[in-house]
Amino acid sequence: MYEIEQHKVSEAARRDTHLDADGYERLYRQSIEQPDTFWAEQATRFVDWMQPWSKIHESNMDKGEAAWFIDGKLNVSANCIDRHLAKRADQTAIIWEGDDPSEDRHISYRELHQQVCRLANVLKARGVKKGDRVCLYMPMIPEAAFAMLACTRIGAVHSVVFGGFSPDALRDRIQNAECRVVITADEGVRGGKSIPLKQNVDKALADCPDVHTVVTVKRTGADIPWHEHRDVWCHEACAAVSDVCEPEPMDSEDPLFILYTSGSTGKPKGVLHTTGGYLLSTALTHHYVFDYHEGEVYWCTADVGWVTGHSYIVYGPLCNGATTLMFEGVPTYPNASRCWDIVDKHKVNIFYTAPTAIRALMALGDEPVKSTSRASLRLLGSVGEPINPEAWEWYYHVVGDSRCPVVDTWWQTETGSILIAPLPGATDLKPGSATRPFFGVEPALYDNDGNELHGVADGNLVIKRSWPSQIRTVYGDNQRFIDTYFSTYKGVYFTGDGARRDEDGYYWITGRVDDVLNISGHRIGTAEVESALVLHDAVAEAAVVGCPHDIKGQAIYAYVMPMHNATPSDELLADLKVYVSEQVGAFAKPDFIQWAPGLPKTRSGKIMRRILRKIACDELDTLGDTSTLSDPTVVDELIEHRLNRG
Ligand code: WTA
Repeated sequence: MYEIEQHKVSEAARRDTHLDADGYERLYRQSIEQPDTFWAEQATRFVDWMQPWSKIHESNMDKGEAAWFIDGKLNVSANCIDRHLAKRADQTAIIWEGDDPSEDRHISYRELHQQVCRLANVLKARGVKKGDRVCLYMPMIPEAAFAMLACTRIGAVHSVVFGGFSPDALRDRIQNAECRVVITADEGVRGGKSIPLKQNVDKALADCPDVHTVVTVKRTGADIPWHEHRDVWCHEACAAVSDVCEPEPMDSEDPLFILYTSGSTGKPKGVLHTTGGYLLSTALTHHYVFDYHEGEVYWCTADVGWVTGHSYIVYGPLCNGATTLMFEGVPTYPNASRCWDIVDKHKVNIFYTAPTAIRALMALGDEPVKSTSRASLRLLGSVGEPINPEAWEWYYHVVGDSRCPVVDTWWQTETGSILIAPLPGATDLKPGSATRPFFGVEPALYDNDGNELHGVADGNLVIKRSWPSQIRTVYGDNQRFIDTYFSTYKGVYFTGDGARRDEDGYYWITGRVDDVLNISGHRIGTAEVESALVLHDAVAEAAVVGCPHDIKGQAIYAYVMPMHNATPSDELLADLKVYVSEQVGAFAKPDFIQWAPGLPKTRSGKIMRRILRKIACDELDTLGDTSTLSDPTVVDELIEHRLNRG
């Protein structure tokens, strides 16, 4: 066990926190025993409503149905902007730090209001109406937040597609959500390199005839192809419209956004979130988990293309009137001190990042950290994958100078907001544990047969009662939604994660129990990589598993069976890697590809991934029973030719 095991929160950190241990217990108990009272109080305190709700909540966990703040009306952009204007019009809402350290911008709440109204009016002028879907394919620039908020202002549903996705992946998502408008930039900039976003959009749109408008933000001024009637420059269109746009009153259960995420099978799923519950949960968790205090500078390093960027760069912080920092670049450019230089430059108080970034920086040594001050830091956060205790310790001691609590926050695209995490000043920390449930969250552990496990246990993590920012459906496929989340175990939400509960009731997330990989905090379905591989002419069959990786958490290990007429070669291997990048995105590129004469299958033809995982992870002693395979000799062959991952 680690020396730090029972981190008593230091007095310095405890001084001004919103809650202490008793406060957490009291509120948690209220949220479970008197949920209507709890949620009514929080919803009144954190959100402005245009019309009050008639009922707090209704749910059916057998079918995944949930409705929160029924009949309530509100507008998300009004909550994130307008209501702050009386008090903090001149306060910075968004600090933007460019990839190039000499570039930054401060956007006040007043300016945010104008920009969002203008862009909302541009969308309206191009025919976008309440309920229409708008695709955003953006780099990390303030206009990404403007565009999200502009959609919410007029009741349009945004679908943000991460800028690292390939044109094909973008096309699939535009088609699935039936978007008719895309907002993008000429290019993105990351780590000194440019990313041809507009060009990717043009490629994707070759197969999307219904898209009639592409609004392009000028980021680099690169020469880009232009489609006269379809394409408009964002700055030109915004200059031509009014900077007043009344916020549309939205029903609490009206759709707010769609965000695609990977599952264990099939195509990515469009997770649908609705308005009132999502906004309240993100604001509430941002306030308590990050212990946000007025005037503080808060920085979440995620990309707005992922849920962390949605909930904790844009919606939660802005709903709370915070100053949120948005960084265009990468942690190691132009050097390994970049994050801490930004912390010092903008006096960041709260820093929220992923374990993969922490491990990458840790590998570069303490010096790039120690050479900076970081005196403004008060709190550190982690998200996206299990954080190993070594990385936790380094984060706490080296980055935080043993002074800042680390909040390890567990949640998912589907949960919309943080569900399990310590509260600074209230929860004693244990490195590697996401600790205790947030208010209103009732986690449980089930065995594979669906029996609930009590006390100290290891099992499948489920959530027993509805919470406000719960996924409402998979866009266009409600049956898949029910099958994925509400069918494995009756009457509860299944997370897809495994977890252990210790003697203090703390949760330790052990990772996915399904075929979803977590590569540098990016969620990738093995099926997605496999279907990309088999599209290649030289590939007959492919099976993909994850194996441990020091920095990325997991790496992608693919077994590929070549077509009878293809010759396995190093060139072909390199080709296959590029091919997957083109099909999905560079982040899904396999790290290892092993040629396979055959794949281990059961007699009914099902690939035995368990065995492939063991071979890839070099865990040959625990290979298990191979006698049920249709051809057990395949396994010996694969073991003999397994790749050296060292
Ligand atoms: C994993 C990201 C351990 C988990 C917010 C989950 C974590 C998946 C943690 C969701 C954490 C996220 N500790 N594992 N603190 N946070 N995960 O949808 O496997 O991109 O199911 O949402 O990331 O990934 P997603």
